Amino acid sequence: MKKARLDIDRVAFIGRTYDEYMRIFALEESLLKQCPVLDCPAGAASFAAEAGRYGSDVVACDILYDLPPDELVAKGERDIRLIYDKIGEVPHLYVWDYYKNRDDLISMRKKALALFAEDLKRGIAQGRYVKASLPRLPFADNTFSLVLSAHFLFLYGDMLDPDFHKACLMELMRVSSGEVRIFPLSGLDLRPYRHLDEILFFLDSEGVDAEIVKVPFEFQRGANRMMRLRRRSTH
Ligand SMILES: C[S@@+](CC[C@H](N)C(=O)[O-])C[C@H]1O[C@@H](n2cnc3c(N)ncnc32)[C@H](O)[C@@H]1O
Repeated sequence: MKKARLDIDRVAFIGRTYDEYMRIFALEESLLKQCPVLDCPAGAASFAAEAGRYGSDVVACDILYDLPPDELVAKGERDIRLIYDKIGEVPHLYVWDYYKNRDDLISMRKKALALFAEDLKRGIAQGRYVKASLPRLPFADNTFSLVLSAHFLFLYGDMLDPDFHKACLMELMRVSSGEVRIFPLSGLDLRPYRHLDEILFFLDSEGVDAEIVKVPFEFQRGANRMMRLRRRSTH
């Protein structure tokens, strides 16, 4: 019988490129110009590095950013190999459109890792790569005009409990003066996050408006929606 879940047992230290971020979060460059932007957790994504080249001010944070740069890159390489092997077991769970095949997917992950690695030392010195362990972030309230969170919350929903999700979402909201966007809303088994209704009810009770928005990207089958959060206006 075909497997119904990507069979990994840890949160992978991998990352996506600027182009992938633009699609998964339905971003427009004008929005990124209203800097600063937080990418959390950023893993080995090259979004901060590439956005910087286009004149946007993006801070990336991750629980592993206190590791020496060489170790981080080596971990990124190991986790890319892990994903390559594991996706080979379950190709039917994915839409092979944006990525033509597994090699194409992996070359995109390697490109992201290479751009991330190239930017890392300078970025650490400039305070653009910051170690942070959710659900606590080392930033003041309202620091970022936009906060992006991809491939962590909801995706690893069977490893992270609902209370952790709630605490993370409120912390991402705390450091945002505008919006928080989260992608995807389904897990490694393609199913919509099991506690989504509970989370939406919680956010509403905390004065946060949540909107589910379709995006122009689908790799995991059915995972083509993001969550967009904004503080409810009081008048
Ligand atoms: C799959 S990567 C996502 C990277 C990027 N956002 C993307 O979409 O390509 C998930 C990241 O979450 C990080 N992570 C795991 N637990 C965390 C925590 N409690 N706080 C911050 N980062 C965490 C991992 O180190 C990993 O780099």
